[in-house]
Amino acid sequence: MTAVGIDAIEIRSGKLKLDLPNTFAPQKGDDPEKYTKGLGLNNSSFPDVYEDIVTMGANAAKSLMDRKGLVPADIGRIDVATESAFDHSKPVSTYIAGCLEQVYDDDFRHANKGERKFACVAGTQAIDDAYNWIKAGRHRGRAALVVATDTALYARGDPGEATQGAGAVAMLISEDPSIVELSTHQGYGSMDETDFLKPNQQFPSVDGKRSMQVYLARMREALEDYQSVAGKVHLDDFAYAPFHTPFPGMVRKAALLAYRHIIRDTEIEDDLAGEIGRQPREDDYEDREAYEAAIREHMDELKTTDAYQSWYADAVEPTLGLSREVGNWYTGSVHVARASALRDAIAKDRDFVGETLLVGSYGSGAQAEIHAETVREGWREEIEGLDIDAQLDARYDLSWEEYEDVHDVHEYDKDVEREIEEFTAPSEEFVFTGWGRMNERKYEYIA
Ligand code: COA
Repeated sequence: MTAVGIDAIEIRSGKLKLDLPNTFAPQKGDDPEKYTKGLGLNNSSFPDVYEDIVTMGANAAKSLMDRKGLVPADIGRIDVATESAFDHSKPVSTYIAGCLEQVYDDDFRHANKGERKFACVAGTQAIDDAYNWIKAGRHRGRAALVVATDTALYARGDPGEATQGAGAVAMLISEDPSIVELSTHQGYGSMDETDFLKPNQQFPSVDGKRSMQVYLARMREALEDYQSVAGKVHLDDFAYAPFHTPFPGMVRKAALLAYRHIIRDTEIEDDLAGEIGRQPREDDYEDREAYEAAIREHMDELKTTDAYQSWYADAVEPTLGLSREVGNWYTGSVHVARASALRDAIAKDRDFVGETLLVGSYGSGAQAEIHAETVREGWREEIEGLDIDAQLDARYDLSWEEYEDVHDVHEYDKDVEREIEEFTAPSEEFVFTGWGRMNERKYEYIA
C-alpha cells in the first residue's frame, strides 16, 4: 500500500507579539504566573496591520513551494482550514491561490479548492480530505496543499483574550511523504455542543470552562474509538503525543486523562498501586458523584508520580514549545504541536525514523479525532528547514496601547478613525492592500 502523509511543513507567524506576563498581566491586575504557569503561555503572535489569514497562509504556502521546488501544476488541491474567514461564499483558498498566481508563471486553474470548517479540528479534516483523494487515486500524481490559517482574536475583556494568537501552517500532503505517514485508523468523538461558536460574528462566544470539559470528554471518546480499530494503545508505542493546544495548560489536563485511561488494566497501573492505589472503578461507588470525587483525588496523586511525570516530560512537554511562544492558532495548533515535537527530536538528536506519534485534534462544537503518524526517512531535513525561530525573534514587541490599536485594526466592524502605521516593514511577502469594488480583500506581493 502506498504511504500517504505530510511531505513538507511551513509555519508562518504573525509579525507582532504580545508579552503576556510583562504587558498583559499588569494591565489585568493579574499575577504573571497565571499566564506562564497556569495557562502555560509566554507570548502570543499578532498580525501586523497588513497581515491576515490570507497573507499568512499565502506566505507559508509560497515558502513551502519554493523550498520544495514546486510549481502550480504540481498541486491538485488547495484546502484551507480556518475559523477566521471573512467571506461566507468565496473560499479563502481562492484568495491564497490568487496571491500565489502573482508570483508563479503558471496558475492553479486545474486544482480543486475548498474551505473546511469545524473550529480547530478543520486543519486535520483538510488533511483527511487530501489523504482520501490520494488514496482514491484521483490525484493524477499531484500533491495537495493544506493551509491552516487563523487570527484567533477574542473580544476585548473576554477570558479568552489571554489565549489569542495568529499564524498559518502550510502542509503538503502527498504519496511517499518525507515527514510522516498517516495511519488509516482513526477514532472520533463528536457531539453537538455549544461551547464556542461565532454565529455571524467575528469574535467568538465562548464558555471557556465548558469548552475545556468538552475537549476532555470528546478526546476520551476519540481515544476509545481509535482503540476499537487500532487495538489497545500502550505508552511505549508512541514517541510523542501532539494534541490540539489552545493553551498548554489544556494539554496538561488532557495528558493526565489520557495517561490514566491508557494505563488502566496494565502492568503500569499494577506498579503504581503500591504508591497511590488502583484507579477507582465506577461499580465500587454508590453514585456517580462519589465516583467522580474519588477519580479527582486519584488524578491529583497520579500527576505527582515519577512514572507520570517522566512520561509527560518525554512525550508531551516537548510538543508545547512553540505554543508557549505563539498562543492559540486554532486550526494550526495541533500542527504546531507536531512541529514542536519533531524539533525536539532534532534537538535530542533522536534516531527517529519509524517511530510513531499519537496525534489528537479537537474542534469546539465539538469533535475530537485521534490517529497515528509514522516518522519517515526525510523528516529531519524538512524540519531543519523551518525558520520559525528567526520569525519569532524578529517579532515586534507591542506595548499595551499598541496592542489595543492592533486589536481595533483587525476588528472588521470597527471604524478605526486614525490611520495606524504598520509596526514592521514588509519584504518578500504578500500583504493586504485594501478593498476592491465588490468589497473583496486585495493583496499584493512586496518584493
Ligand atoms: N500561578 C499559577 N497558576 C495560576 C495562577 C497563578 N498566580 N493564577 C491562576 N492560575 C491557574 C489556574 O489555577 C488555572 O489552572 P487550572 O485550570 O489548572 O486550575 C489557570 O491558571 C487559568 O486560570 P483561570 O482562573 O481558570 O483563568 P480564566 O478563568 O481567566 O480563563 C480559560 C481560562 C481557559 C477559561 C480562558 O482563557 C478561555 O476562555 N479560553 C478560551 C477557550 C479555550 O481555549 N478553551 C479550550 C478548549 S478548545
